[in-house]
Formats: sequence, C-alpha cells, structure tokens
Amino acid sequence: MTDSGLHPDAARIRGRFPALLRQVRGRPIVYLDHACTTPRPEPVLAAIDAFVRQGIGCHGRADHVLGREATQARQASREVVRQFVGAAHADEIVFVRNATDALNLVAQCVALKPGDAVLTTDLEHNSNLLPWQRLARVRGIRHVIHRIDPVRGFDREAFLRDLTPDVRLVSVFHVSNLCGIELPVSWIAPEVRRRGAIMVVDGAQAVTTHRLDAAGWGIDFYAFSFHKMFGPTGIGALYGRREVLERLPPYRVGGDTVLDTTFTRANWAPVPQRLEAGVADVDGEVGAAAAAAFVRDIDPERIRSHAIALNQRATAGLLRHPRVRLVGPPDAALRNGILNFHVEGLDSRSLAGLLDERANVMVRYGRHCVHAWFDATGTPETLRASFSVTNTPEDAERLVATVHEVLTMIG
Ligand code: ALA
Repeated sequence: MTDSGLHPDAARIRGRFPALLRQVRGRPIVYLDHACTTPRPEPVLAAIDAFVRQGIGCHGRADHVLGREATQARQASREVVRQFVGAAHADEIVFVRNATDALNLVAQCVALKPGDAVLTTDLEHNSNLLPWQRLARVRGIRHVIHRIDPVRGFDREAFLRDLTPDVRLVSVFHVSNLCGIELPVSWIAPEVRRRGAIMVVDGAQAVTTHRLDAAGWGIDFYAFSFHKMFGPTGIGALYGRREVLERLPPYRVGGDTVLDTTFTRANWAPVPQRLEAGVADVDGEVGAAAAAAFVRDIDPERIRSHAIALNQRATAGLLRHPRVRLVGPPDAALRNGILNFHVEGLDSRSLAGLLDERANVMVRYGRHCVHAWFDATGTPETLRASFSVTNTPEDAERLVATVHEVLTMIG
C-alpha cells in the first residue's frame, strides 16, 4: 500500500477483469457501480468454467465418482467461505440465493411471537426492511426503527435507549449502501445478546472492505451476496452461530431438507442441509469460493484504503461545485467506497444519463433501495458512485471532470 492509501497493483488487478477491459462507444469504461454489483475476475471465471466442464454429478445423493466430486466441491467451497466470514464451523454456513434471501430466511425461521419487537435502522436496504414489515403484518411483531443521522453517524446512547426489553431481535447493516457509513457491529452484538436478543447483520456492502470475524464479534447471523464481492450472481451465504442456527426449522421444504419422510411427516436433516432445499447451485458455490479467495488474497483492508483514497479525491473534486450536496459525512474516510450526491436544481436521472453517454461513467441514480429514508427526509433522488480496487485515480478524475463539464454546459 502506498502512503496515499492507493493499492500499488490496482492497474494489474483491474486487468484481470475482462468486463472492465471492454470499450463502449469506442472508449474505455469507468465502472463506478460496485455497490450495486461487481465484475468477475479471471480466477472466478476459471473456477466456474473448470467445474462446469467436468462436474455433472448430483451432490449428496449420487454415490458415483461425479456425484462425489460435486459433494466434495460443495464441502470445499463451504470451508473457504467459513474462513472468509470467520465462522467457527463449516456447518454454520448456509448457501442461499443472495443477502435478501438470507434475511428472509432469518425473518421467517426465527421464533418471534406477537408483541416481540424487532429493531432495525432507518438506513436499511429494502431487503432488511420489508421482511420485518411483513412479520409485523402477518405475525404481529412490533417493528421499531432506530434513526441514524447519516452525517453524524451512529449514536451509541441513542441506540441503547431504543434497545428496550421487548426487543427480541436486532437487524442492522454493517456498511450502508446509501452513504457508506458503518456500524460498530462488534460493540452492538454484546449489548444485544446480553439482553437475550438475536443479532443479525446485513453484510452485503462490507464484504470487500472489511475483514470479517463473525465468531469473534459474537453476532448470530451475517448475510451477504457474492455478486458484490467479485463472485457470481444468484448465490449468497448466511452465517448462523451454530447454537442459534440449530434451532431454526426448514425455510423452504423439499429435496435435501429431510432424512426421511412418510406421507404425513418429515424427519428434518441437520443444518445447514435442512435450510438448503433442492439441488444446490454448485457452480455458483464454486465461483463464490473463488471470489472469497480472491478478496482474501488482495486483503479487504487494502481494498478499503484504495476505495477511500479514490473517494477522497472525487469528493474534493465534486465539492468544488457549489451546488453539489453529499449524503453522509463530508469525510470520505467515513464512507468506505461510496460517494452519494445530488446537484441542487438538477434531476439526478438526467445527470447519470449524461455521465454515461458522454464519458462511459457508470453510476447508479435513484433511491438506492432505501426508499423509506428518502420519503421520510424529503431528499431528492441522488447519484451514487461506488469505488473499489478495480478503479484508478483516472476514474475518479473522469467522474469529477464530467460532472463539472455537464454543469458548465447546462448551467
Ligand atoms: N443493493 C444494491 C445497491 O445498493 C442493489 O445498489
């Protein structure tokens, strides 16, 4: 790592991503939408390709060579993910479709009864809001929303005031997809568990920038998607602390969830098997493990410092324009790779379109799946640039220069 925080090998790392080497409209692309989804590097593509070319066996059932290979590939992938997330045991890793699926699993399977309170924050992605809203409707839980000022950040005293004795489960983001601020999950977890409640973390935005230590932090569940960490789409993982995971009934029922059935009863398999109904996405799991190894080998802390260094440059450049407004703290070091902003008097959708058309600068605009926060605060739609180790200082400069050009052009 250089003094600036930039990764000295970022250009070489970027060269391993075929999608980032594309030319669009006859020029290179500037991909600044990593918070939405990430490109896949050669080692991930190669791992999936090698498995798909050879592996046709049905895991866990077929006791022939190819079947056993598929079972072994799953075990090996689960072990890599165990190490990545800092779990104590491989059977604490449940493969799911994505972080949304993981959070729905928790919401549906944890035993909550009418009147129990579930505490989330007002900055949660819809995937950590809607499952609890639904539980409030169908099971009569009380959904309590803890407010966070995105500029000042998390207030420990205020949080403890909302952590009332009826709170049975707390589910919070690790890094906000809206503005990049992070929550002190290793401080929150003991407070929650000391009160006998369950601690769930939506880790979707933290997995490339934070070394994970699920067991050490003492959390109960950690949900994430591999497509946000250079892996395939459609595959995610849920870490569940063994003691809590073992109490969960099946999520979806069907193949692989049972040891035995009669026409009227089922004898459920142990976890994680009973939570992974149907033939698994083994191709995806193999790609997921390759992505976890890729991130681990670069080191999330170095990805984080590189992303922050670019975010600092871009933030300073954008704030030179008097109409630029940030969402979140002005200090980019508190926002990981996320730079969320809007320009007063200018529609974010139009600006995002112009960035794309004029300079291949790809950002996300809108309400970023945090609609409720936009609604409650009256904030207009925004643009979000999200940096990773695949970006260079030139990418940050192209964003800034193009925003300034557009603002000069349209006034
Ligand atoms: N969760 C993704 C985002 O924030 C889709 O863009």
